[in-house]
Amino acid sequence: MKYLIFGNGYIGNKFKNAFSDAEITETDIGNIDAVRLILEEKKPDIVINCAGRTGRPNIDWCEDHKEETLYSNVTGPFILAKACFEKSVFMAHLGSGCIYQGDNNGNGFSEEDVPDINSMPSFYSLTKFVSEYMLDKFPILQVRLRMPLDSEKSNRNFITKITNYEKVINEPNSMTVIDDLIIATKKLIEKKKTGIYNVTNPGSITHKEILDMYKELVDPDFKYQLIDAKSLKTKAGRSNCILSTKKLEDEGIKLPEIHEAMREVLKHYK
Ligand SMILES: NC(=O)c1ccc[n+]([C@@H]2O[C@H](COP(=O)([O-])OP(=O)(O)OC[C@H]3O[C@@H](n4cnc5c(N)ncnc54)[C@H](OP(=O)(O)O)[C@@H]3O)[C@@H](O)[C@H]2O)c1
Repeated sequence: MKYLIFGNGYIGNKFKNAFSDAEITETDIGNIDAVRLILEEKKPDIVINCAGRTGRPNIDWCEDHKEETLYSNVTGPFILAKACFEKSVFMAHLGSGCIYQGDNNGNGFSEEDVPDINSMPSFYSLTKFVSEYMLDKFPILQVRLRMPLDSEKSNRNFITKITNYEKVINEPNSMTVIDDLIIATKKLIEKKKTGIYNVTNPGSITHKEILDMYKELVDPDFKYQLIDAKSLKTKAGRSNCILSTKKLEDEGIKLPEIHEAMREVLKHYK
């Protein structure tokens, strides 16, 4: 299987490094001629779209750069999908669970739950939802991840992020260990699955639980300060939510529970 990964960013490079038969491209996914050209040149069996506008230093950027965000998160994925259909190339796309808030009355949000479009936490979330909703009408695999993390120190890694914040909120969330994301996505691709899949580690974990584990396993001198989520003042709202992993498990793809997975990641992170 020959993989071509679009989006030379954080997650795109994780996929590239994990697959021996993968190449990564910076080709603009919104430029149909450029996309057609690279597909013709590389002749991949599978395209994984890891391109998107996530904002720097964070999604607050997207509130002030709506055109660029819409272009890369909505227009681009459809142009890429069109070019993949023309060449009969299987396409996988990275979605996000940040389109929900809360735990859906203790059930977690399933792939069938349509979020409330009027209470999207941010413009970034809105673009991820709009593209997901429309891409779902086509034979494309969409994997939804949340708060990606692994053992490599990086300002994009959720562990590095929360251990560097001066003050941290304390909310339960679904989270995705990147190695598990890669395993699950590969299995779904091999099964030629299309549609939306929540790809998070089962269960949920709070910020405090992670910080306590960090203190125990990485740095005993580590100190942190918690704040109420309501007092967090950011330009864009933040999603805190729990996703159901039942659909993924029904495919026979069982990832390690999040507390167990977090402990393993933190041991290597140290
Ligand atoms: N990281 C997360 O917390 C998270 C969580 C859930 C879902 N996701 C999704 O996962 C995907 C990858 O995220 P990431 O964390 O790897 O983000 P990232 O590090 O910002 O990488 C995205 C890459 O896409 C590139 N890009 C932007 N617009 C493009 C375009 N029109 N054509 C081609 N490349 C373009 C960016 O280039 P520039 O650097 O030049 O902008 C960047 O290299 C995104 O769709 C994101 O929404 C991420």
